[in-house]
Amino acid sequence: MKNSIAIIGGGGSVGSAVAYALIVRRVASEVVLVDLDQARCDAQVLDLSDAAHLFDTHVRSAPAKEAGQCDIVVVCAGAKQRPGENRIDLIGRNKEILGSVIESMKPFKKETVLLLVSNPVDVLTHIAQKLSGLPVGQVIGSGTFLDSVRLRGELAKTLNVAETAIHAYVLGEHGDSQFVAWSSASVGCTPLMSLPQIKALNRDALAESVKNKAYRIIEAKGFTQFGIGAVTAQICESIILDLRHVRPLSHYVEEYGVCVSLPAVLGHKGVQETLKPPLTADEEAQLRRSAAELKKGIAACGM
Ligand code: LAC
Repeated sequence: MKNSIAIIGGGGSVGSAVAYALIVRRVASEVVLVDLDQARCDAQVLDLSDAAHLFDTHVRSAPAKEAGQCDIVVVCAGAKQRPGENRIDLIGRNKEILGSVIESMKPFKKETVLLLVSNPVDVLTHIAQKLSGLPVGQVIGSGTFLDSVRLRGELAKTLNVAETAIHAYVLGEHGDSQFVAWSSASVGCTPLMSLPQIKALNRDALAESVKNKAYRIIEAKGFTQFGIGAVTAQICESIILDLRHVRPLSHYVEEYGVCVSLPAVLGHKGVQETLKPPLTADEEAQLRRSAAELKKGIAACGM
């Protein structure tokens, strides 16, 4: 089946990593890069085409208008965090960029799924829902999927089991107010909290280390790219193949009135259902704190 995925900001470090992951996983028949820096974008297309030839994928650059007709539009455009900055610090710069990107893509194909990756991803997802006019389920953000992958990686090492056997989610903001929903986590069918190795673990330190992983990478190399590239390609795959995976993604959650990450069923039409796990009173309070932080961010944008 023919399908196309556009990447806005495709010439950048994140956009090109997303493109590469899409190509080597054979997610799309066509990957379309859009970038204001045309020379860099064309160079990325040339470089990526060497990989694309091996994986039956076509890669090209195009104007933004064409992106709005693709099956999925991944938005990676925007300023990135400088060392010491948090994701919310990027709001002012990135909401302007997002506004002009969305205008330049309109009108969208009716079924297009808009997938936000740029930060602060939860706030930008909310803004994109307002500006794009697409159904809310079709405008989603990569959210805490990457943080959850980071968490599972650490837990897999501690427990010496496959990462896919661990069901554990980082929820809330993809940012400083995120939290781990420990109470609902499991390994296979066994509640994680019942395992002796977990009782002995400094869980707060682990959660903190997961939260700060991006900061450590940014401090040393200036940006993150491969983790988010792989996670984004996997989200695209669930959408294109209607796989109905359950992923912690940023999407509009009525109960909190904002886009925030909770596990959601992901298929052809984007997010199709929220599957909120049972939370302890403390976890619920942390989720509400995240939602409140995000509302502040949205209000600061005048949205
Ligand atoms: C990270 C960026 C995507 O966490 O926010 O790597």
